[in-house]
Amino acid sequence: MATYERIPNSVMQTTEYPETGYQEVSTNMQIFHSLESEVRSYIRCFPTVFKKSKEAYLFNEEGKRYIDFFAGAGSLNYGHNNDQVKRAILKYVQEDGILLSLDKATTAKRHFLKQISSIIFEPRGLQYKIQFTGPTGTNAIEAALKLARLVKGRSNIIAFTNAFHGMTLGSLTLTSNDLIRNRPYMNRSNVTIMPYDGYLGEGIDTIAYLRRFLEDNHSGIDLPAAVILETVQAEGGVHLATDQWLRDLEQVCRDFDLLLIVDDIQVGNGRTGTFFSFENAGIRPDIVTLGKSIGGGLPLSLVLIRPAIDQWKPGEHSGTFRGNNLAFVAGAEVLDYWKDEAFSQSVIHKSDLAAERFQTFQKKYEALNIKVRGKGLIFGLEFPSNNLAPKIAEHAFNLGLIIEVTGVKKNVLKFLPPLTIEEEVLQDGLDIIDAAIQATIA
Ligand SMILES: Cc1ncc(COP(=O)(O)O)c(C=O)c1O
Repeated sequence: MATYERIPNSVMQTTEYPETGYQEVSTNMQIFHSLESEVRSYIRCFPTVFKKSKEAYLFNEEGKRYIDFFAGAGSLNYGHNNDQVKRAILKYVQEDGILLSLDKATTAKRHFLKQISSIIFEPRGLQYKIQFTGPTGTNAIEAALKLARLVKGRSNIIAFTNAFHGMTLGSLTLTSNDLIRNRPYMNRSNVTIMPYDGYLGEGIDTIAYLRRFLEDNHSGIDLPAAVILETVQAEGGVHLATDQWLRDLEQVCRDFDLLLIVDDIQVGNGRTGTFFSFENAGIRPDIVTLGKSIGGGLPLSLVLIRPAIDQWKPGEHSGTFRGNNLAFVAGAEVLDYWKDEAFSQSVIHKSDLAAERFQTFQKKYEALNIKVRGKGLIFGLEFPSNNLAPKIAEHAFNLGLIIEVTGVKKNVLKFLPPLTIEEEVLQDGLDIIDAAIQATIA
């Protein structure tokens, strides 16, 4: 049985619970606070020691159960310890399968390549070469930036307001967030930030704005090599680009000879209801970055490259952990979910259920003026009132739900459950959000 100690927020270096000034820390968490760097983050919002997980549930050491509306920030789209994945991994290890191969050929990698080609590319009429990068999403972004600059022989890149593409230095140049970008280790070289869809207010065409800068060689903006975007800006507060905006952006890229890079690291892998987030818009990005759930819950990231621009020389971009074979095994398994339409339809169905509940929250808590944005199984619930979202998340945690607060103002609850979540568990989690809102405003 854990005992608890009250630690001042100043020691915890947290701003999560400023109104109390203290946070209770169980003694079984002490070592994380004393030994782990101050950079730790989610542990401050979800202060417990997790021990087990299954499907959409996490369990702490005391056996308390939490519903997971966070899904490893989108890396557990197919649930925790997915049975199919678990079986395949155990069998592979049991048979002494290769674990790390850099970029040598292995049977596990060949199977993964065959699966992605036959299940994802062929039915969609897509032709991409696949670059395996280091295992985190930001590695894929770094590679995509380098390749775009190499191919076009230009250094500027256009990114968007409220964008997030990872935490290594190249990725940070694309990121708008003031807290992580305006630092002495950073410079803003070679990136121009332009307004995302809706950023300048309703009815203002941000594509026309971008086009104006590009067509005028006295605008002060260097012709870029590429434009990079998220079709749903997850970390930025769940902002969605319309399909029309995406098509218009693609047209701008074609008109000015720019590469179009879609960062599908968080909202690819079925998060929006289709495997790629841009499928309904009908666009054909030159480069797509994939990460998180592409490894079936294990670290794996990819850059999909239109064959004509795959102009790397052998070894020109490398990294030791490009051959995480356990992730190939797991990733190949979860691609089976996309063999027919059923999985996609189930995501859309659960999306409708969630959207319905969010509408009832809007009515029930009218005074809070909750704004709801999302599609598939990513939704943002924006609470304009200061500090409400973190308090709701804290109450939700105490009631047994893991949900993240996001957005540059930290006022958006980000709903991101595993795509495989059962309807009943989904509804239970939504009940907890309801109860947490009530507890917060009580
Ligand atoms: C859209 C997007 N791109 C890139 C990244 C970086 O991925 P990673 O944290 O695996 O480096 C993230 C992470 O949240 C992301 O959401």
